[in-house]
Amino acid sequence: MGYRVAVMGATGAVGREILKILAERDFPIKDIAALASPRSAGKEISFGEKKVLKIQNLETFDFNGWDFVLASAGASVSAIYAPKAAEAGCIVVDNTSYFRMEPDVPLVVPEVNPDALKKAKRNIIANPNCSTIQMVVALKPLHELFKIKRVVVSTYQATGGAGKKGMDELFTQTKSSLIGESITRGNFTKQIAFNCIPHIDKFMDDGFTKEEWKMTVETKKILDPDIAVVATCVRVPVFIGHGEAITIECERPVDLEKARKALRNADGVILYDERQDEGYVTQIEAAGEDASYVSRLRIDPTVPNGLAFWCVSDNLRKGAALNTVQIAESMVEQNLVSQK
Ligand code: A2P
Repeated sequence: MGYRVAVMGATGAVGREILKILAERDFPIKDIAALASPRSAGKEISFGEKKVLKIQNLETFDFNGWDFVLASAGASVSAIYAPKAAEAGCIVVDNTSYFRMEPDVPLVVPEVNPDALKKAKRNIIANPNCSTIQMVVALKPLHELFKIKRVVVSTYQATGGAGKKGMDELFTQTKSSLIGESITRGNFTKQIAFNCIPHIDKFMDDGFTKEEWKMTVETKKILDPDIAVVATCVRVPVFIGHGEAITIECERPVDLEKARKALRNADGVILYDERQDEGYVTQIEAAGEDASYVSRLRIDPTVPNGLAFWCVSDNLRKGAALNTVQIAESMVEQNLVSQK
């Protein structure tokens, strides 16, 4: 018993993590394929402790007979190959932003809206943006208790969110800067080493960036269309892990002890909030872990029913690869996929 799973973009930062997580969590696999561009075809990549996979060229891959395609090779690649795989009968879990806001494509965080998977009529399911995922996991128990009206969020996002090339750019610029060489820019619009850049994805007409827009519209689609979200998204010189300073305004009175209890019991959340030196979680501790960590929980006295907190998570795991694998697991658990 097992499924035939193809990983699209297997050589990338998220693709590698998907392979790692499939092996770690013992996903029921009968056959596994690692797909990437013709540049990588024929090279080898490890899967779990013992297995080595030969990378296959996505352009010539035959999707017929495969159960799942877990895609993380960029929006333009998904635009072509996700529908192709879906038409061949595969369930596609897509990590890019390409299909997220299409009404007939479920946008899913399994701890928050697993029932939406039942509506995957096109065989395509979208994985939300990394900064949205960790936030909605933490917001869900608070929304159930206090009914959130408005969210104000500022992010501190790792370079890994821009893929392997983003992490390479931070490494190279840091090294150049320390040895006194000139800095070269590639992926980021300003120097990222020893700097913070308040600009992720392209600018929109209203002055927000597309990353900020994604946090707003995706939270509405996943959690509640009535929640207003205003975001400021900032790239910081960290390799892995997104931090978020979140403030919520609620309809009902906020009780700190009730909030703590609900967060302690919530799936996917770990509350670590000691109100002392080191009594909170940072990116370094979250990297390689699965949870959305919540710390620095406190009442916001400047608005009625306000609550402020810090949230941090591994953007390559819960923010991308882990959520993708959890979606596939939830499809299996809910009997929504038939084995080929
Ligand atoms: P490759 O390594 O062969 O270029 P990241 O987001 O970390 O930069 O990774 C992007 C992933 O998407 C890589 O696995 C990359 O493969 C893959 N990819 C990028 N462009 C294409 C393409 N045109 N066809 C297939 N895979 C692609």
